[in-house]
Amino acid sequence: MNIQKLLADRTRKMSVNTIREILKVVSQPGMVSLAGGIPAPESFPIDILKILTQKVLEKYGPSALQYDPTEGFSPLREALPGYLAAKRGIQAKPKDILIASGSQGVLDAAGKIFISRNDPIAVEAPTYLGALQAFDPYEPRYVTLVSDAYGLVPESLEEVLAREPIKFIYLVPTFQNPTGRTIPLERRRHIADIIQIHDALLIEDDPYGDLRYSGQALPVIKTLAPEHVIYVSTLSKVFAPGLRIGYYLAPKKIRDWLVMVKQGVDLHTSTFNQALAAEYIQGGYLEQHLPHIIELYKPRKDAMLGALQRYFPEGFTWSKPEGGMFVWVEGPENYDMQELYHRCVQQNVAFVPGKFFYSDPEVGNHTMRLNFTMADEATIDGAVKKLAEIIAAPHV
Ligand SMILES: Cc1ncc(COP(=O)(O)O)c(C=O)c1O
Repeated sequence: MNIQKLLADRTRKMSVNTIREILKVVSQPGMVSLAGGIPAPESFPIDILKILTQKVLEKYGPSALQYDPTEGFSPLREALPGYLAAKRGIQAKPKDILIASGSQGVLDAAGKIFISRNDPIAVEAPTYLGALQAFDPYEPRYVTLVSDAYGLVPESLEEVLAREPIKFIYLVPTFQNPTGRTIPLERRRHIADIIQIHDALLIEDDPYGDLRYSGQALPVIKTLAPEHVIYVSTLSKVFAPGLRIGYYLAPKKIRDWLVMVKQGVDLHTSTFNQALAAEYIQGGYLEQHLPHIIELYKPRKDAMLGALQRYFPEGFTWSKPEGGMFVWVEGPENYDMQELYHRCVQQNVAFVPGKFFYSDPEVGNHTMRLNFTMADEATIDGAVKKLAEIIAAPHV
């Protein structure tokens, strides 16, 4: 059968997630990989989950296994406001919070609601690849915003909003994937002012906010311009990504559209997993477990930054995140990071070439993303040293 002639135009725009393809290659035996972007399996609260499973069955019985409203399982929606107030400074009522199957589901829903073919949307360069993948099938025209070591340059946003009818702006302001960069407070305030002045909509994607290893937590932009921000977060990095529990807060007028879209996609997120999440938060287990995750990742991040400092040659620079899961390395201008990637994989050490995180395929080939959550300190040190040796090795 000729499937090609059956495909919708937008389906042709879909691409396999390049990183997933890379991860297949680099998960071969013997490979030391700094390519992954996932939580360490040892960060999962297995013992707590045993308690929660029992609790959920006793407390909720069959209703934890039943169909449930699209907006989310009530006990989880009731558990989240306290956590959001304490951790993010967000004042919300249970009815303001909607549950999604991971934050990824919200990105797709936003694409579906807002993007018609060739509509301009504004993204950082580089940005989260999964967001580009969620938006691509809706055929937007990407307008790239200028970023520096402190993330989005607000003046660039101002200039773009003055010139283009941007449907929405997509940002990861805290410990961004892929760069690890965090937008400082002054810029957050400036961005909040700009989106309010231009009556623009921001999607603030915040999966890493809780993974702070040093420094002061910053207010999320949602608190600075509440009516102009869809705030999206997830329990994937602080509980377990396989449970697929994300949540979001949207301006009232947008909320119903997002719920309607979700209704058509999956009716609702797994009731049982939402019940586990409700008990995880409500029972104080998240509060108890989060320090263990931070204790696991902080030395790994320090090991990576120390190793880069020790081994990497002149001409290479890198981000120095205070949290999250990633460090971003920039080589000299015109450095061919894809060529380096192939040499490294042959020698059993891997990273993700940074070019895949740009909406413009012509830029970013001198960059790489390194992940520090998936290997212990000694392995990270050895891997960064090996990368540096391969960079220094003569090649044709
Ligand atoms: C910036 C960003 N947004 C969203 C996601 C997806 O998270 P979830 O598991 O909640 O779908 C990720 C996952 O790595 C991410 O890095």
